[in-house]
Amino acid sequence: MMRAARCENADRTPIWLMRQAGRYMAEYRSIRRHTPFLQLCKNPDLCAEIMLAAVKRLKVDAAILFSDLLVILEPMGIQLQFRVSEGPLLVNSIRTPAEADRLLELENIEALQFVMEAVRKTRAGLPESLPLIGFAGAPFTLAAYIIEGGSSRDYSRTKTFMYGDIGAWNAMLSRLARAVGLYLNAQIAAGVQLVQLFDSWVGCLGVDDYRRYVLPHTQAVIASIPPGVPIIYFYTGNPALLPYIKKAAGNRKNLVIGVDWRMRLDDAWEAIGLDTAIQGNLDPAVLLSTPAEIRRQAREILEQAAGRAGHIFNLGHGVLPQTPVENAIALIDAVHELSLKT
Ligand code: CP3
Repeated sequence: MMRAARCENADRTPIWLMRQAGRYMAEYRSIRRHTPFLQLCKNPDLCAEIMLAAVKRLKVDAAILFSDLLVILEPMGIQLQFRVSEGPLLVNSIRTPAEADRLLELENIEALQFVMEAVRKTRAGLPESLPLIGFAGAPFTLAAYIIEGGSSRDYSRTKTFMYGDIGAWNAMLSRLARAVGLYLNAQIAAGVQLVQLFDSWVGCLGVDDYRRYVLPHTQAVIASIPPGVPIIYFYTGNPALLPYIKKAAGNRKNLVIGVDWRMRLDDAWEAIGLDTAIQGNLDPAVLLSTPAEIRRQAREILEQAAGRAGHIFNLGHGVLPQTPVENAIALIDAVHELSLKT
């Protein structure tokens, strides 16, 4: 996994799955039955237990911190609720530039020590050879949650804010970029080996808007991470953003770009150059099909990667809750077997 993230040759293609620990797994559901989701995120023992159980069951090549994208927002003044099967709700969302001051500066990570404790406990339970991935939301995706108050179909409130007052927008995104930098560096100090930035919703933007409203803030986050720690910058939805996603990293080595299934891996490499590693990109819906179809599609992706240095296999987005665990295991076994270099 670490060799692939540094774009070096590996004996086989490493694989892990976004949302590898979650509702599709009986081990998770049994813990979750007794504990509301946000409470779970604040219990480092349970966070470690959930991720370690998933890693053991799936035999993946990396663990990811068990937490949520949005917990960083609480000490910044945003109240969170997770409703059963409806996703997150931000109670006091910031709808307009006039309210932007309600987002507080994250001065330190005191209030997020439970995350660092989850990192330490998960790291302590993993074999030394398995890396632990820390993560945070990228500034745009966090801002979209803060402004929409939850998930959204068209991000119209976010765009209205962004086009309407670029000064307030830049102030909000720089505040988020500083917070994310602080948060990821604390996770690194607590023991993660790589970090993933989730820009899950940035694909709703066109290229010019990405460059004008988002790129400088993503650049600031990436620049705040020590050069030796690989960064996985994951986004979905708009293949045309790819060259600018790469630009966000400047000349930095140790960059992995996470792409979804809407583009082929070989086309993605053409857009960004072979010196950058790629993570992806099976459609999570394929895991709802049969082991034979899963294997066929895994082979196709491995063929596009063509044994190049710097491929981390993953889904193009998170595991769907209705996924049969056996199918996730079938994918992991297939990737391990088909990519083995003899
Ligand atoms: O990958 C992992 O297994 C680690 C844990 C993890 C969770 N959330 C646990 C979770 C990670 C890395 C995240 C990140 C996250 N959270 C993202 C970025 C990834 C992406 O999907 O683009 C986003 C957008 C969120 C916000 C969020 N949290 C949503 C939209 C939802 C509801 C949708 C859903 O799948 O339930 C959550 C809840 C959530 N986060 C659950 C888990 C296990 C389900 C909670 C439950 O009901 O038990």
